[in-house]
Amino acid sequence: MASFCISCTAQDIALPAPQRTGGKPLMEALNERQTTREFSDRELDEQTLSDLLWAAYGFNRDDKRTAPSANDHQEFSIYVVLKSGVYVYDAKQNILVQKVKGDFRAKTGKQDFVAVAPLNLVYVADTKKSDSGAADVGFISQNVYLYCASAGLGTVVRGWFEKEEVKAALQLSENEVPILTQTVGYKN
Ligand SMILES: Cc1cc2nc3c(=O)[nH]c(=O)nc-3n(C[C@H](O)[C@H](O)[C@H](O)COP(=O)(O)O)c2cc1C
Repeated sequence: MASFCISCTAQDIALPAPQRTGGKPLMEALNERQTTREFSDRELDEQTLSDLLWAAYGFNRDDKRTAPSANDHQEFSIYVVLKSGVYVYDAKQNILVQKVKGDFRAKTGKQDFVAVAPLNLVYVADTKKSDSGAADVGFISQNVYLYCASAGLGTVVRGWFEKEEVKAALQLSENEVPILTQTVGYKN
């Protein structure tokens, strides 16, 4: 069940609290980590979304996250592109804040599966916070790979996308740069 949210609008998605325990042992998840490029259109439930996003880039201590960050600039935002719209993951409040309404999945990449899979993540760096080279994104992406291996989901990190098309679809500002994308869903 979704949690209560004071600052949400009707279009935002208040996620249930992430489950921070359980899953496969790390060595099993590493053993099963791999890239998938065939996805079913089965939706992810809100608990799965919450767990996945927390694993990716949630806070596991007061102001620190599951992924390391150069100089602790934490310059990334995760844009969550679902059938219903484009959202930004607010990791503090555990809310998906709707940015754009409508289905923009196909705009996030050049491969056919991006429009089929239920979820595309876009890792967006804020150049106002840091211009240190965006190395943090590799750690975030690997967190998603390992969560997917643990949860029986498929995933592929993607550098093959049209930067300007993604910027337009996500309505990014001047200082926001999409660095990598990542598709997630059930394997076909
Ligand atoms: C930075 C980066 C960008 C990538 N871009 C794409 C991509 O655009 N499309 C794709 O299908 N796979 C992409 N991949 C996935 C690689 O092709 C994949 O990791 C590689 O073939 C090894 O397979 P494995 O992940 O199953 O070990 C990318 C991987 C990385 C690290």
